[in-house]
Amino acid sequence: MSKHIDVELKNIQKKFGSNVVVDDFSIQIEKGECISFLGPSGCGKTTTLNMIAGFLEPDQGELFIKGKRMNGVPSNKRELGMVFQTYSLFPHMTIFENVAYGLKLRKVPKTEIASRVSKVLELVKLPHVADRYPKQLSGGQRQRIAIARALVTEPSLLLLDEPLSNLDAKLREELRDEMKRLQQEIGVTTIFVTHDQEEALYMSSRIVVLDHGKVEQIGTPWDIYNRPASEFVHTFIGKSNKMPGVVEQAVGNKLSLRTDEGLTLIAESKSSQVKAGDNVSIYVRPEKIAIYSDNRGTLDTNRVMGTVKLTSFLGAYTECEVRVGRYAMTVRIQSGHQEAAFAQGQTVYLEWKPEDVFVFPGKGHGQ
Ligand SMILES: Nc1ncnc2c1ncn2[C@@H]1O[C@H](COP(=O)(O)OP(=O)(O)OP(=O)(O)O)[C@@H](O)[C@H]1O
Ligand SMILES: [Mg+2]
Repeated sequence: MSKHIDVELKNIQKKFGSNVVVDDFSIQIEKGECISFLGPSGCGKTTTLNMIAGFLEPDQGELFIKGKRMNGVPSNKRELGMVFQTYSLFPHMTIFENVAYGLKLRKVPKTEIASRVSKVLELVKLPHVADRYPKQLSGGQRQRIAIARALVTEPSLLLLDEPLSNLDAKLREELRDEMKRLQQEIGVTTIFVTHDQEEALYMSSRIVVLDHGKVEQIGTPWDIYNRPASEFVHTFIGKSNKMPGVVEQAVGNKLSLRTDEGLTLIAESKSSQVKAGDNVSIYVRPEKIAIYSDNRGTLDTNRVMGTVKLTSFLGAYTECEVRVGRYAMTVRIQSGHQEAAFAQGQTVYLEWKPEDVFVFPGKGHGQ
């Protein structure tokens, strides 16, 4: 069965002066997917989106939308819906007029405009605001109208550039839920730009992790989290505890490691290209560490002793900072699991499984 590819980037490159800001970017995006571009500020997310939108031309490479080559095709011929980081509603127009704008340009008959606008306002759960002006809405409501305006023309591709970043935490979450529901309901192929890793994990069928204009990894949220292609991807997505060390022995996929603190650890590597003698960066995530007040753990590997320095209750979980030699290790204890409270200064035992250890070549770039 052949896949239905909606968007394809082939070796796209963009330079500003001599500065390469998007380097050899290739991806095939299937119909109905929600793809996130995720990466730190300045990594080229907006630049790539602007090339797909037709606001910028690539210096090299090809872009296809629905099988048609788009290089040189003006933005208004690409059937896109776009939502930007800052609210881009026209202040002097009512909400109805704002949403209807794109349909008017396309000379859609008046009665059809009325019914399509009311349908899309229903969809974003704001059916009663048609007569108001943008300044009479909250920030979250305005952003929902921006989404309605992008959807009303039934675009073949929806491009969202950090549409939630101007909103407070609670509203972000609400709107994120709603956007996911909408995206799945309508099935519109969507590209979503964010530097928020949780947002990317939540929204996406696949995530593209970018760093300095380069694609570090393309994968499902699960892949990106559990099978990171690089140390950069691992440390960008979620918290992790780092220990520099060296490989003492590598037999099959089993690695015996020694940290610079002299701890002996065992790792079951997934795809590690390291060998005995290599300097490595060793990581374990806070939620993979079990913590005990006595030495009664169940594993015979990766067990270390430490001292509790700090505990922070965060509702769904408690975060414990444990001093192990020079390392300050973060341990995450899910509420209702294990022992609820550990006191500052208390001696504790930490343990984690070999398959939860990530090993990357080199001394790493810190966190
Ligand atoms: N018009 C321009 N002229 C020169 N350099 C530019 C231009 N636009 C962007 N850049 C540079 O290109 C790089 C990528 O910028 P881009 O806006 O794509 O980053 P981003 O990933 O969207 O970042 P952010 O998360 O901060 O929005 C940055 O180093 C930026 O300074
Ligand atoms: Mg940007």
